[in-house]
Amino acid sequence: MRRFIIGGNWKMQVTGVEDSVSRAQKIVKLEGFDKVDVFIAPSFTALYEVGKILQGTPLKLCGQNMHHFETGAFTGEVSVESLLEAGCEYVLLGHSERRRIFGETDELINKKVLKALEHKLKVVLAIGETAKEREEGRTAEVNRSQLAGSLAGVPKEQMDNIVIAYEPVWAINNKHLNPDTEIHPATPKQAVEAHQIVRNWVKEQYGEEVAESIRIQYGGSMKGSNAEELLTLPDIDGGLIGGASLTAEALEPIIKAAVKFTR
Ligand code: PGA
Repeated sequence: MRRFIIGGNWKMQVTGVEDSVSRAQKIVKLEGFDKVDVFIAPSFTALYEVGKILQGTPLKLCGQNMHHFETGAFTGEVSVESLLEAGCEYVLLGHSERRRIFGETDELINKKVLKALEHKLKVVLAIGETAKEREEGRTAEVNRSQLAGSLAGVPKEQMDNIVIAYEPVWAINNKHLNPDTEIHPATPKQAVEAHQIVRNWVKEQYGEEVAESIRIQYGGSMKGSNAEELLTLPDIDGGLIGGASLTAEALEPIIKAAVKFTR
């Protein structure tokens, strides 16, 4: 059965190296890593120092983004080798903040996915529809098209190295993406339906075995108070967490919920 995977996406919320290290030191002391996979994604400047803390521990390091060229004149970008050197096992690609604020397209995300896999960096691929797309009845179409575009050319044998994060944009605790709305997580029904859309797409493209083994995280306002409800749902194999991943105290109940429902 699929092992839960919980990811902490720190975004640009924790900016200092010392601060990042001290938070990681507390998170690494939590319990449950024998039953649940957990990664954290600090700022680029903190990756190396946090990576040293995590070395030899079960808590994994994740980059928040990556460029699709190995090296070159790309001001402000970070390469796959840099992430690997810092100790990353994962890279988060296609996050809605990258897609919607920085204009990343499926075509670009796809290049990054292929480059990461080529270098044995595991990919957490984020997808998700906006409130408007959902209202227009386009949830399935948008998610399927992001999957097809972002995973184009990924062979079946590489799908082991992919985690999909379904994150409805409207549920993400982000005032830039959701300025006028009260932000709340997907309802269990909405989350289950969307996860089934994702798993069905994987089944159509890669067959039953891959569809049954691929892990699909839910993201968007997951926190201690709703983690149990979300993690008991079929097809939800963990969470990608922003705000509630910044401290050990906030992350602990989420990891505990995953441990409680270990499959
Ligand atoms: P949130 O962010 O948990 O703060 O809503 C989730 C994400 O964007 O990964």
